[in-house]
Amino acid sequence: MDLAIETTDLIKRYGSIVAVNHLNLKVESNTIHGFLGPNGAGKTTTIKILVGLLKPDGGRVTVLGEEVQGDNPDVRLKIGYMPELPRFPKHLKGYELLDIYGKMYGISTQERKIRIQRVLEIVGLKGRERDFIGEYSKGMQQRLGIAQALLSEPELIILDEPSLGLDPAGMVEVRGVIKEIAKEGVTVFLSSHLLYEVEQVCSHVSIIHRGACLASGRLEEIIAKISGPVMLEVELAEESEDVFEVLKNLPFISKIQRENKTLIIKLETTDDVRPQISQAITKAGGIIVYMNMKRRGLEEAFMRLIMKS
Ligand SMILES: Nc1ncnc2c1ncn2[C@@H]1O[C@H](COP(=O)(O)OP(=O)(O)O)[C@@H](O)[C@H]1O
Ligand SMILES: [Mg+2]
Repeated sequence: MDLAIETTDLIKRYGSIVAVNHLNLKVESNTIHGFLGPNGAGKTTTIKILVGLLKPDGGRVTVLGEEVQGDNPDVRLKIGYMPELPRFPKHLKGYELLDIYGKMYGISTQERKIRIQRVLEIVGLKGRERDFIGEYSKGMQQRLGIAQALLSEPELIILDEPSLGLDPAGMVEVRGVIKEIAKEGVTVFLSSHLLYEVEQVCSHVSIIHRGACLASGRLEEIIAKISGPVMLEVELAEESEDVFEVLKNLPFISKIQRENKTLIIKLETTDDVRPQISQAITKAGGIIVYMNMKRRGLEEAFMRLIMKS
């Protein structure tokens, strides 16, 4: 497994506050990885350590195969970074801002022209680059922040709360941009306190609380692992003892609750077994008029996890 980010026992204190507490984090390359946690969980602090803006008090950090201890220019150039709530000078035009960043990255004049056009396209700001940043909506400013982070053609892009302060339409825009970036083969690591956002855009997630990682892995696996059993509600055209007997013997069903024509089935598996169940019911002479799988989402799983710890 190729890792874009790895932290081992990472620690960061601000005086007596332990912001990051033995954090172990693994981010696979070529994924969109959500760094999810409530406000104050330690996301921004961790990200600042990853990009070399803060020095850890303990533990190890490896980014793109290189160890990070404070600023490491070799690694910095391979990472795109958008800070939490980026605010740019309003009197500059979008293009001017990107050109300044391009110069800072040491990109030649010729190459800057090409790259600026490319990133403008990715973030959907083409045609607006000659407007003043002061005239941009918050969503556009956020997308300009992402464009800035993409300019050095990084292998890894780290976005700290990319949809903070955006309205729903702005959030959709930013999500679209994130998916575009991932298609280009860039690893995306984004922090968020919004579960819904992570669920919409990420393939992987690490849940952080009080500076430590509570769960990490593929999104569906995390949901399955922490959200408990899946329930299936089936309504039959008529009550049937035969159907009940057949279902009872299926290995992936652990419990059936009967309420007249409705069966509430508790599943042992997180696989989608609706076809097998439907087939078994039909075979036993039953007719399904309604079926609904109640799979709990990340929101509920997240709350349970946070409450337990
Ligand atoms: N510069 C700082 N000085 C003192 N405490 C800080 C500072 N920055 C963050 N903290 C504290 O560290 C903890 C983690 O903060 P932060 O990393 O910003 O969390 P998040 O980004 O998940 O909201 C919080 O308790 C916060 O109040
Ligand atoms: Mg933060």
